[in-house]
Amino acid sequence: MTKPHLTIVIPSYKEAANIPSLLEKIHSALGDYPYDVLVIDDNSPDGTAEVARGLAEKYPVSVVVRKDKRGLASAVVDGFKLAGGDIVAVMDADLQHPPEVLPRLVRAIEGGADLAVASRYVPGGSVGNWSATRRVISRGAVLMSHVLLPSTRGIKDPMSGYFMLRKDVISEVALSPVGYKILLEVICLGCPRTTVEVPFIFENRRAGVTKLSMITQTDYLRHLLSLMRRTGELNRIVKFVAVGGSGTLVNLGLLAILKEWAGLYYLVAGAIAFEVSVVWNFLLNDRFTFGDRKRPEGTFLGRLLRFNVTSLGGFIIYIGILALLTQVFGLFYIISAAIGIVVGFGWNFMVNSAWTWR
Ligand code: GDD
Ligand code: MN
Repeated sequence: MTKPHLTIVIPSYKEAANIPSLLEKIHSALGDYPYDVLVIDDNSPDGTAEVARGLAEKYPVSVVVRKDKRGLASAVVDGFKLAGGDIVAVMDADLQHPPEVLPRLVRAIEGGADLAVASRYVPGGSVGNWSATRRVISRGAVLMSHVLLPSTRGIKDPMSGYFMLRKDVISEVALSPVGYKILLEVICLGCPRTTVEVPFIFENRRAGVTKLSMITQTDYLRHLLSLMRRTGELNRIVKFVAVGGSGTLVNLGLLAILKEWAGLYYLVAGAIAFEVSVVWNFLLNDRFTFGDRKRPEGTFLGRLLRFNVTSLGGFIIYIGILALLTQVFGLFYIISAAIGIVVGFGWNFMVNSAWTWR
């Protein structure tokens, strides 16, 4: 059986000093596996493109030069469009992504994975000698993606710039190079059915300097928001808030009815009204907000129970914040309550999204 062809997309900007060694290492790592390298260069002034072209006799490499510097992510998107292989890989030109890992990524794809991620956060992988600050920022970014973009949850390193995929995973989707975390786009919009992570150690840069600045970090937040919009996750939050608002009306209305007409003691009426509104919220959320997220092995009663436990937690958080901010920090009680409601809502959404309708 012939092996599926692999195209390795390499975005480059001012990497002339790294290209020869990179191509040589890729070649010896892949042996006789059928592959080609596609360098997408943004008109580097240091002659990156010329160096790569000069090696085309020795290695299967082609170079695309774009006139303007349009950035890493857009280079990768262009590379995807031009890639001829059935399998496509993305890696950096600066040897921070060790080519020795390529055969393991290929094996993962051959073993049936749609997407193989070279990962710093699975056992055996590491970020190398990053500073504590950079480690914390990176971990925080991963945590945020797990909370806000459910399809990234099973993946420990959704920010990796080193990965391989079957091309049909992305052939139907419009990738937008908003941020530079192109793997996030692939995971959220391409919907790979199976993803495998292969450990790797993020090496030190061989030559040159990084092109990604701190401005790129705020780009990340914009990218998250844009992906939440495009995957419908933002819409989900809007629905959840709308359902919660309707539940509050049910709660208050029923409280009045039970107290005034049925003559119940107001705390008893309040407890009953609270529980009825929880069930109300649950039914609407189960049908509309999370209607697409029911696992076949989950049961209606199981979800109802989880939703109840979560709501109780949200209620305790609300009361706790109300008391703490008012008593200890001396805030006006309405302000404390408003903060408590927002935090309680956030808790409810996140826990229900990650647990009740996971
Ligand atoms: N074509 C093109 N245009 N390529 C670019 C540009 C650009 O404007 N900017 C950077 N590149 C290329 C670089 O030449 C390198 O091959 C690769 O993109 C990564 O750029 P670096 O500047 O080395 O980025 P980094 O090492 O800080 O970031 C890497 O690690 C991150 C994980 O922490 C990248 O792999 C990121 O994608 C990854 O998220
Ligand atoms: Mn780098």
